Amino acid sequence: MLEGKGILITGAGSGIGEAAAALFAGYGARLVLADINGDAVSRVAEAIVAKGGEAYALVVDTGVPAQIEKMVTDAAAKLGRIDCAFNNVGIAHEMAEVAALPLATWQHTIDITVTGTFLSMQAELKHMVEQGGGVIVNTASNAGTHGTPMLAAYAAAKAGVISVTKTVAVEYAARGIRANAVCPGVINTPPIKALADAGVNFADIINAPMGRVGTAAEVAELAAWLCSSRSSYVTGQAISIDGGTNAMP
Ligand SMILES: NC(=O)c1ccc[n+]([C@@H]2O[C@H](COP(=O)([O-])OP(=O)(O)OC[C@H]3O[C@@H](n4cnc5c(N)ncnc54)[C@H](O)[C@@H]3O)[C@@H](O)[C@H]2O)c1
Repeated sequence: MLEGKGILITGAGSGIGEAAAALFAGYGARLVLADINGDAVSRVAEAIVAKGGEAYALVVDTGVPAQIEKMVTDAAAKLGRIDCAFNNVGIAHEMAEVAALPLATWQHTIDITVTGTFLSMQAELKHMVEQGGGVIVNTASNAGTHGTPMLAAYAAAKAGVISVTKTVAVEYAARGIRANAVCPGVINTPPIKALADAGVNFADIINAPMGRVGTAAEVAELAAWLCSSRSSYVTGQAISIDGGTNAMP
C-alpha cells in the first residue's frame, strides 16, 4: 500500500508511532523516525532494518522549533522526498479542573501538542510544495472534539490540531497536498497502561460502545490508509477511531 513512499513519523519511539513505523515498513514505506527518546526510536528503527526494511532514527524534541526544521531537512535528505508526514507527538498533563490548571502546564501542553504540530507542518509543507504534492496525517484525539474534564489544555491543543489540519487541507488542496487528522479514543499504549497500573478503573474511562480499548495497530492502519493514495479524495477530515464513542449522544 505504501511501496517506496518516503514517510516521516514523529513520536515513533512508542505507542501509536511505533506501531505505525512497523506497519508502514511492512507496507513498503521508507521511513525516518523521530522521537525525543533516542534509545526507543533507535530500537524501533533497528527492528525494521533487521527485517529488511529502511528506517532511520532521529533524536528530536518537537518542542524546539530549530530541531523541527532540522528534522524535516534531514528527513528529506535521507528519503529524497517526503511523500507523507505523520505528525504524531502529543502530550497529556496532570489531571486538574480548569480553575486549578497551572499556566505552565497549559503552555507546555499547547507548545508540544499543537505548536509542535503546526511547526512540523510548516517545514513539511515547504518541501511538499516544492516536490509537487504530499500527504500530512496529524494525531489529534476525541478530546479535541468533546468537553474533556480534567484535561483542558490537552483538549484545547487537540482541537487546535484539528483546526489547523483543516486549514492546511483547504489552503494546499490545489497544490496536491492532503491533510487529515486521526482522532483516537482510548488506545492501549504505555501512557494508558500506566494509568491502569496506577489504579485507574478502566471501566470508568472506557465508554466505547465496543466495550474495549483500541490498539495502536488499529490507529496505525487508519494512518497508513490516509498516507496512501487509496484515500486520494479524502482531505480536511478529523476521523475518529474509537470503538463508536464519538457516535454516542
Ligand atoms: N493512547 C491514547 O489513548 C491516545 C488517545 C488519543 C490520542 N492520542 C495521541 O496519540 C499520540 C501518541 O500517543 P501514544 O499513546 O502512542 O503515547 P506514547 O507515550 O506511547 O508515545 C508518544 C511518543 O512521543 C514521544 N515524544 C513525547 N514528547 C516528544 C517531543 N517533545 N519530541 C519528540 N518526541 C516526543 C515520546 O518519547 C513517545 O515515544 C499523541 O499525540 C497522543 O496525544 C493517544
